[in-house]
Amino acid sequence: MGGSVSQQRLLDEFEWFHSHPELSCAEFDTTVRIKAALSQAGIAVLAGNPPLKTGLVAEIQGGLPGKTVALRADIDALPVNEETAVPYRSRNAGCMHACGHDFHMAALLGAALLLAEKRPELRGSVRFVFQPSEEVPGGALSVLQTGLLDTVSEIYGFHAMPNLKSGVVAVKDGATFGSTARFAISVQGKGGHAAMPELCKDPLVAAAALVCAAQTVISRNTNPFDTAVLSFTRIESGSAWNIVPDTAFIEGTIRGLGEGNCKRAAEQLERMCGGIALAYNVSIDFKPEFDSPSTNNDKTLCDFLWKLAEGNGYEVEEFTPTLGGEDFAYYQKRIPGVFFCFGVDSPFGLHHPKFQAKTDMLFQAARLMALIAESALARLAQG
Ligand code: NI
Repeated sequence: MGGSVSQQRLLDEFEWFHSHPELSCAEFDTTVRIKAALSQAGIAVLAGNPPLKTGLVAEIQGGLPGKTVALRADIDALPVNEETAVPYRSRNAGCMHACGHDFHMAALLGAALLLAEKRPELRGSVRFVFQPSEEVPGGALSVLQTGLLDTVSEIYGFHAMPNLKSGVVAVKDGATFGSTARFAISVQGKGGHAAMPELCKDPLVAAAALVCAAQTVISRNTNPFDTAVLSFTRIESGSAWNIVPDTAFIEGTIRGLGEGNCKRAAEQLERMCGGIALAYNVSIDFKPEFDSPSTNNDKTLCDFLWKLAEGNGYEVEEFTPTLGGEDFAYYQKRIPGVFFCFGVDSPFGLHHPKFQAKTDMLFQAARLMALIAESALARLAQG
């Protein structure tokens, strides 16, 4: 594989994506750019029903009959002010590709260009999913709603990983990215003079008690062999040193690997809110919002990917699961697939203003995605 698709070509695409980041659901210029590159290579963009507002699904129909597999990249950036010194840094103030989605897109575009050259030998079709809005999770759902993945037999995607050596492939079966939920808690008390607490219902003390009590939500309710976390990330209350406030507001997140842990922890936290409200004579409103479920990598397909990558000269290792969220999980509810990681060796992590993906292995990422699609189709064609 190689031909006219070069590392330099993909670098140009990557740098353009990096310098033109767009927030979730607003990836308009990004979509235009991808569409142009695909059309230039004669790759068809499909019209979904309903169509996507941003992002796109494209298709290469192989010369030989067969099944359909999908490759996915997410395309949105984050509300982060870039602090790198690269010449192709973000031109959109307050917006940055700090999660490596520029790398994902450039690699997927490369895979499409590589596969377009092999069209006659392909045994089936490949659908290329350039998915909008992964960071504000739900983009995967809008892609599924288009119906364009209804006939897909397998789906693959990857995330650029800063803590892996450039070009290293990390795979693991089962749950590798966590199910995530966020929650907001409002405590309604009764404010007054700080010197007369007996006339108040102090929401701040109740909020503090809740944060402390909730530290047992995971430790006393989760199987010690399971993985889950509950973090409070924001607490707001009060206006001055001598006033008991009326209200307190708390935010946080619950995450877990596999099914159920996240829901169970949210239920326990809700019970605790009820108990604290009673004990402190305040009212507490608890609102959980469940985002994406856990990713769930198919064991057989993981073995397939591992062998394929190793056989083609990639260094492969077992991925250490994380409680970061990834809405690729929605695809895996319907389609067997693998979400793996690809090393980009950055000293600063994902979502950091100094995150900087190493791009020396960008072409290798594209080549791997193309190999996966080609080999999966060949395997599926054998029955
Ligand atoms: Ni990401």
